[in-house]
Amino acid sequence: MKYNTIVLAAGQGKRMNAGQNKQFIELLNKPLIIHTLERFIHDTWCYHIYLVINPNEQREMETLITKYGWQHQITIVHGGSERQESGYNGLCAIKPESRDLVVMIHDGARPFVKQTHLHELAEVAQKNRAALLAVPVTDTIKRKQGDKLDTLDRSTLWAAQTPQAFSYDLILRAHESAKRSQYLGTDDVSLVEALDEPVEIVHGSYHNVKLTTPEDIMKAEMILTQKEEV
Ligand code: CTP
Ligand code: MG
Repeated sequence: MKYNTIVLAAGQGKRMNAGQNKQFIELLNKPLIIHTLERFIHDTWCYHIYLVINPNEQREMETLITKYGWQHQITIVHGGSERQESGYNGLCAIKPESRDLVVMIHDGARPFVKQTHLHELAEVAQKNRAALLAVPVTDTIKRKQGDKLDTLDRSTLWAAQTPQAFSYDLILRAHESAKRSQYLGTDDVSLVEALDEPVEIVHGSYHNVKLTTPEDIMKAEMILTQKEEV
């Protein structure tokens, strides 16, 4: 089967504190965004990539994509001030003739997604219309409301990752409905949840981390230097 991918790279990377968008940080001499894009470029199931960027970084991104020779596989789209807006812009850019394909939405800052997980996710989304990669929470999670502390039942808790994959019509409807009601979700699946539509979980890998703070860079280089596929 084939799927389209939206890769979100239009953030500012403020928490990374690198003085530039974290997408350009080099991990073993290659920009983070290139590591992420490679996961999809090398997957024969990936039909086309829509790379959502900050318009101020267009020249820099285009130069990189040309350097790797990926101009035909990637379409650049301008993002917005919120991640959700960037995702919506990506959805609107998908060519009408390929909207029957499953669409994945992925963080540019998540460079370690495994091909087997991409395929499993694509198949589950094809069948069930909405799915995400997630891993069981390993920490004990406490909830504090006022003075009251309680412990959530860990067996029911999952840490959400990306990609999140959908049938195009469903995720477009979810984004449009969220926009109308000015609902800002923390991920794309939450917009589908708000429609009361079911979402499947595909058990992912703890290696599929999002690089958010400077400590994550060292972790990422360690994962990259490991011999086995992550
Ligand atoms: N993103 C985006 N458009 C935005 C905000 C975020 O495309 N307006 C993208 C980021 O580039 C990133 C992904 O969404 O790949 C996940 O967001 P996050 O990790 O929060 O990245 P940033 O927003 O860049 O970082 P920060 O929140 O620390 O500023
Ligand atoms: Mg952010």
